[in-house]
Amino acid sequence: MWVGRAELVAAVADAGALGFLTALTQPSPDALVAEIARVRAMTDRPFGVNLTILPSINPPPYEDYCRAIVAAGVNIVETAGSRPAQFIEFFKGHGVKIIHKCTSVRHALSAERMGADAISIDGFECAGHPGEDDVSGLVLIPAAADKVTVPILASGGFGDGRGLAAALALGADGINMGTRFCATAEAPIHRAFKLAIVANDERSTDVIFRSYGNSARVARNAISQRVIALEREGRPFDDVAPLVKGTRGLEGLVAGDLDHGIWTAGQVQGLVHDIPTVDELVSRIVSEAQAIIRDRLASLMS
Ligand SMILES: Cc1cc2nc3c(=O)[nH]c(=O)nc-3n(C[C@H](O)[C@H](O)[C@H](O)COP(=O)(O)O)c2cc1C
Repeated sequence: MWVGRAELVAAVADAGALGFLTALTQPSPDALVAEIARVRAMTDRPFGVNLTILPSINPPPYEDYCRAIVAAGVNIVETAGSRPAQFIEFFKGHGVKIIHKCTSVRHALSAERMGADAISIDGFECAGHPGEDDVSGLVLIPAAADKVTVPILASGGFGDGRGLAAALALGADGINMGTRFCATAEAPIHRAFKLAIVANDERSTDVIFRSYGNSARVARNAISQRVIALEREGRPFDDVAPLVKGTRGLEGLVAGDLDHGIWTAGQVQGLVHDIPTVDELVSRIVSEAQAIIRDRLASLMS
């Protein structure tokens, strides 16, 4: 949300990875179609669109976004969130490949039954919505690999070649990264946030909204701490809503004000030490993983 725009998605595509526009970053389905056209003007490589289905203060017109994605000719969609059945069915009916992102093995299996072509499985470390089970990737990824038959992307806590090599060892077919891509030259957010991600360590997150059954991992700041204090007092969501609304987060992202609203980042901040270009980052991760597998792990076998 707010970061998955054309500049970043095109850079990720050009680096040989698969980038996703976040549909709901765009204020309307028409704006999303225009953003898709902007990506196509910047790259001829494949890219996708993420459709996030979550409880929200003002629910968006999901069906209209779905129709716009198909009409624009996008053929890869990442669905995320609850009750994706009708959306997966709609997209599959239009020949779109679906990666469904979820946070538990049982949800991965139901998405597979619904026809998802791949699963992205998000451990508790992840930025955004880790679910309510609190199972970290080290267990969740192999647990999913044991049961899911379609390809799996390991998600949450990945930011370097060590993570990629580990994900492959755990049974995943690739990795999904959110936080790490925010600290790149092309990420369309204020530099203050990139510097904050570099400065932060692995403890610099808060899980908010736990008491509402909609946990979200965000960067720790004045607002996340205030939300947690209100939740401890047993306050209803209506009392925290003005603090956490998306427009407030966006205002902060644009102004470079780290404490204006909540902003999403994961524990992997502790592994982010620079602000490379996307191309440098992707190449580095791949070559690091290759070196770990070819040199370090192979030498342990001899
Ligand atoms: C700034 C930011 C915004 C995000 N917005 C969304 C979103 O709108 N929809 C979604 O499905 N996931 C969203 N995520 C979660 C990522 O897609 C991904 O699952 C997560 O970042 C993986 O964990 P990592 O940050 O440790 O790589 C967001 C993550 C970040 C860092």
